[in-house]
Amino acid sequence: MTGESEKQRTYWDERLRRHWGPEGVSTVDFGRQYALWRYRVRRRVFRRLVRRLAVQLEEMAVLDVGCGTGFYLEQWRSLGVGSLAGLDISDWAVAQLARAYPNGTFYRADIGALAPPLQAEAFDAVSAIDVLVHIVDDSAYLRALRNLHHTLRAGGYLLYSDSFFHGADKQFGNYWKGRSLSAVTAAMESCGFEIVCRVPLSVLMSPPTDTHRRSLNERLWETVMIPVRRREWIGFLMGALLYPIELLLVSALKESPAIEIMVCRKRSWTGNSLIDRAEGKPGNFTSIRTGMGSTNVLDCPQGSCYAEIVKKQLPYPSRLDIFLNSKW
Ligand SMILES: C[S@@+](CC[C@H](N)C(=O)[O-])C[C@H]1O[C@@H](n2cnc3c(N)ncnc32)[C@H](O)[C@@H]1O
Repeated sequence: MTGESEKQRTYWDERLRRHWGPEGVSTVDFGRQYALWRYRVRRRVFRRLVRRLAVQLEEMAVLDVGCGTGFYLEQWRSLGVGSLAGLDISDWAVAQLARAYPNGTFYRADIGALAPPLQAEAFDAVSAIDVLVHIVDDSAYLRALRNLHHTLRAGGYLLYSDSFFHGADKQFGNYWKGRSLSAVTAAMESCGFEIVCRVPLSVLMSPPTDTHRRSLNERLWETVMIPVRRREWIGFLMGALLYPIELLLVSALKESPAIEIMVCRKRSWTGNSLIDRAEGKPGNFTSIRTGMGSTNVLDCPQGSCYAEIVKKQLPYPSRLDIFLNSKW
């Protein structure tokens, strides 16, 4: 585990041990009551979105990445999916959820790591809501997308939330980085996903980080929220007041100034999604098989770098299936 990954693990472990509830996976300072209202909206948006997917839920194997306190596991379960698995960087979260879902499979892992313990093509859908924004390192973020791609079956769905800024990426503190729509689109494409749709997840109940006068709007929003930080009952009232308006807005708007969910599908070609996986392990394989229709075998001499060979032979991004014929 890298130092950065270890720091993330300690941060989330401590946070979730101390706040094992909706506030721990939302904004702790706004308290539990406000977080509960936020999650009521998320429940509606998420379930509506899943019902729109052309899938047989009872036959699906689903993985929730960054499962936290289990909110999205519970949504998938109550929607009737066939089998459930969860992955989180926090030991505490995984231990609690493994007890709450004895039939589920749980992994304690960093999704941005080089090789998390996820089988290839094991899941029909993966949800990663409010998770990848916590991976601030861009290479770890790309690795996370590749890991998700690796564990999804061809045609499988990824439900992923972010800010999808119309400007540049923006980092807030040490543990939160919202990415721009153009960066996410490029990353999804290069990792072998096609984008299906994008819908608002929260409009008024989260800070308006994607607006023209961002800092002014954020300051205004933070000012209105000051009383919510002070008392639980104010959080309850504010949540109750915003809830019906928020429900209207998430249904009516195409884009949100705050947070959106993107639905992506795994393409049946893998592009260069395996290149990074083999990086740093030269000599671990003897040949690469590539093909689209016909099969083309490239020999890789022992000790040479996989990425170099692939880049020489297949201009990036190449729409080819790439298989490694040895374990890495
Ligand atoms: C803001 S919470 C969201 C939890 C849940 N998805 C929800 O929306 O209620 C972020 C979760 O992601 C987990 N997490 C953060 N970084 C992660 C990583 N690199 N790999 C796996 N899980 C991670 C945290 O432990 C935490 O449970």
